[in-house]
Amino acid sequence: MSYKTILTEVNGKVATITLNRPEVLNALNDQLMDELGAALLTFDADDNIGCIIVTGSEKAFAAGADIASMAKRSLQDVYRHNFISRNWEHMQKVRKPVIAAVSGYALGGGCELAMMCDTIMAADNAKFAQPEIKLGIIPGAGGTQRLPRAISKAKAMDLALTGRMMDAAEAERSGLVARVFPKADLLKEVKAIAKDIADMPLLTTMMVKEAVNTAYETTLSQGIHFERRLFHTCFGTNDQKEGMAAFIEKRPAKFTNS
Ligand code: CAA
Repeated sequence: MSYKTILTEVNGKVATITLNRPEVLNALNDQLMDELGAALLTFDADDNIGCIIVTGSEKAFAAGADIASMAKRSLQDVYRHNFISRNWEHMQKVRKPVIAAVSGYALGGGCELAMMCDTIMAADNAKFAQPEIKLGIIPGAGGTQRLPRAISKAKAMDLALTGRMMDAAEAERSGLVARVFPKADLLKEVKAIAKDIADMPLLTTMMVKEAVNTAYETTLSQGIHFERRLFHTCFGTNDQKEGMAAFIEKRPAKFTNS
């Protein structure tokens, strides 16, 4: 498929989607979100892909929802067309691991998009913010909900009420970001991590994702019960037999994603 606002690339079992509206620092408009959703769902359905990276440019992962295309919209219009929900929720349908590789600005919807991914790896120049308050709106793509879960209520309030930017070091310290790399190395490092994940048994990576995400949606006892059932399910896969046999026989495992 040919896209106008994103670039896609496949290296082995790793797919990389690059947001590509450089003239507006990857501001997220309808077309970009439609294309991003289509690419995510295509790679998710592709049996040859084991991990997906979403990234932007060195200067901007994404500077937020497209303000120019939002400025004149009315309540009636955004409510009627369910603005944000329609094409921003494709990410939640993806069952394979998705890594956000963030360099530069991840602001507003850009920060929210990164948080929709399963983990965030950042360059040392990354800057995260929820600056919507300065535009007279609140975050609309999950920022007020995912930020307090990812960092803390105190820091989420601080960021959403002031709109200030948080640098990569603070984001890593706060738990928003898993790892920070020098800007020039970000993509190389994240691709290596994605390859490691893609080489794991696919059904098991999908179960890890489903189990960890369940921690956000349920009580501890229900989450532990769900984890236990998925853990039991692993024993029905060929990859569990192979992984354990390979350990005992002191040889590398040959997973078949079955
Ligand atoms: N939407 C539309 N266009 C944007 C944009 C956005 N979110 N962010 C940047 N741009 C455009 C600018 O208008 C500018 O275009 P022109 O060259 O035509 O003037 C171009 O990108 C480059 O931007 P700047 O000249 O401003 O670059 P800078 O380096 O001086 O500043 C910046 C960079 C600090 C990121 C600044 O552009 C900025 O503050 N952007 C807006 C950030 C923002 O408020 N994001 C939240 C949007 S609301 C939202 O996301 C709602 C939600 O929850 C879903």
